[in-house]
Amino acid sequence: MSMQLFPLLLCLTYLASHKAELCEDYGVDYDRAYASDGQPVYISCPLNYAQMKHDFNVTWYINGSQTQVSADTQSRIHQNGNLIKFLPARLDDTEYYACVIRNSTYCIRQLKKLEVFKNDEGLCYNNGIMFLSEEFTSLSKTINCPYLDDYVDVKKAEIKWFKECQPLDLSSDKYFASNDDLTLKNVTQKDEGNYTCEVSFEYNAKEFTISRAIDFSTRVQPLISAPVITYPKNNIMSVQTGSYLSLTCEVLYSGDVVDIVWSYNETLVDDYYADSRVVLEDPHYALLPDGHRIATRNLNFSEIKEEDYNRKFFCEVYSPVNPKAYVILKHPDTNFQGFLIAFFVVLVFVTIISIIAIKIFKVDIVLLYRSSCFVQRNIQDGKVYDAYIMSPKSTYNMDMFVLKLLPEVLERQCGYRLFIFGRDELPGEAMADLIDETISQSRRLVIVLGNTSSENRLENDFEQQIAMYDALIRNKIKVILIELEKITDYTNMPESIKYIKQKQGVIRWKGQFTESSLSPKTNFWKNVRYLMPPTQGLYSQDCDHITSEHV
Ligand SMILES: *[C@@H]1O[C@H](CO)[C@@H](O)[C@H](O)[C@H]1NC(C)=O
Ligand SMILES: *[C@@H]1O[C@H](CO)[C@@H](O)[C@H](O)[C@H]1NC(C)=O
Ligand SMILES: *[C@@H]1O[C@H](CO)[C@@H](O)[C@H](O)[C@H]1NC(C)=O
Ligand SMILES: *[C@@H]1O[C@H](CO)[C@@H](O)[C@H](O)[C@H]1NC(C)=O
Ligand SMILES: *[C@@H]1O[C@H](CO)[C@@H](O)[C@H](O)[C@H]1NC(C)=O
Repeated sequence: MSMQLFPLLLCLTYLASHKAELCEDYGVDYDRAYASDGQPVYISCPLNYAQMKHDFNVTWYINGSQTQVSADTQSRIHQNGNLIKFLPARLDDTEYYACVIRNSTYCIRQLKKLEVFKNDEGLCYNNGIMFLSEEFTSLSKTINCPYLDDYVDVKKAEIKWFKECQPLDLSSDKYFASNDDLTLKNVTQKDEGNYTCEVSFEYNAKEFTISRAIDFSTRVQPLISAPVITYPKNNIMSVQTGSYLSLTCEVLYSGDVVDIVWSYNETLVDDYYADSRVVLEDPHYALLPDGHRIATRNLNFSEIKEEDYNRKFFCEVYSPVNPKAYVILKHPDTNFQGFLIAFFVVLVFVTIISIIAIKIFKVDIVLLYRSSCFVQRNIQDGKVYDAYIMSPKSTYNMDMFVLKLLPEVLERQCGYRLFIFGRDELPGEAMADLIDETISQSRRLVIVLGNTSSENRLENDFEQQIAMYDALIRNKIKVILIELEKITDYTNMPESIKYIKQKQGVIRWKGQFTESSLSPKTNFWKNVRYLMPPTQGLYSQDCDHITSEHV
């Protein structure tokens, strides 16, 4: 049966047995009565007697039954005056008791719960039924043994005190007992604990004991210290002209309330400004959990003006010591630094990307530029040939490349004019003169290398070689090295070739001797064209158009 239903049912039973009487029901009193098993307890009626005026009777009923509590003072439970008395209370007295007040015409009624508890195992009290007492540590504190007045005359009674159920030596300097009070001197945290007080009580020539338990704890009171201004801190504050600003002075203190003000030039700010633009708010006070206090006071500028800058606004505390601290307003620094860093990061990034892009696309970029109309063609440098082609003699691939592919792509498709040694020299000319003269009339020297056998190695062509050295030494001409196949061993190559290879690298032919290798748009030909001078032909844009001029 639920606790809420229980009183209701009691009431119904009551009403059923008192059909004639209408009694106004006030339900259950919120306050419960507590008693320790074996100790006396008195309960007074929770109802307000005053409303019944005069001539009324108070009657107690056990558990809502119609049998009223005995008036026999020898009975363990009896009514005496308006009180119901238990001498002593027993565990099974835990029950609802109905107090009914009647006059000749009217009746009111309320239930009261009594809880009888047993002491905890091995203790002189029950941990659930404690009076609480919390005190700051200080020189001395007093604990009271509560609710004894109904039972004994506290002025005469002898009250014993216990801590954790051990009797206290009340003759020592530490304790002082008076009436129902116990005074502890020099209270420290060690004095925390559960205290019990005990008094003997006589009723109808019988001895009883009444005890109370008090859970006493201490709090350390913060030392009274001089007020400390936590803000401002003689600091500078950046603020934009025209903006709203609220300055808060914050003071930490303990003890008596302090007064704080904002001042400028030894004058209260609101007196100085005398202007609704600057408002000094009332101070606010707050208590911190550790016992310290905080006082704050706002100084509000609805709009910062030029005159407010570079002024020392003081927060001053009026107390036995008078701490003060100021804040100065400054224009905010324009943050160029962040901008510059960002700018340079972007610049470096863009540069790196550009360098990478140029490295990758340099050939295409140059070729595209050459094919644009900005390039001046028909350079008048007195040269006849775009390139002088030099190669070791006679392997099938070498001949295919030098005599077929090179002319097809560079001459026919791109419009270059080539001098190919082995094709264009006239019979009977003196070799050295011819080479020297022709090279000097050429814009480039193209040397095609292959894995040649010993009898037709390049260095065997003594005259070509002399001319080449000569050309290189005089640095009149740019050299383009083409490897027709991968040459792993350069040890037998002339120093000049090694030098050029190391300086500018070689272009390696990877193509087959097929149709697709004849497109000037393959990487190989693009790289060759990149090293070649711009084409002179008017219609050789990107080598798409065939020009017949030079062929
Ligand atoms: C009884 O109590 C009621 C309620 O307060 C009051 O109105 C009434 O006058 C009382 N009757 C007498 C006879 O006192
Ligand atoms: C109160 O109780 C006394 C004694 O029982 C009785 O004489 C008296 O009539 C009662 N008064 C009322 C108002 O019920
Ligand atoms: C005192 O009683 C409280 C409960 O009221 C309990 O938590 C605490 O442990 C007790 N103190 C001692 C020292 O037994
Ligand atoms: C002052 O500024 C504070 C913080 O912005 C604000 O809470 C307060 O209402 C302002 N007081 C007045 C009077 O404007
Ligand atoms: C500060 O106060 C002094 C004396 O009252 C006054 O002469 C002076 O002009 C004030 N300065 C400012 C900036 O208001």
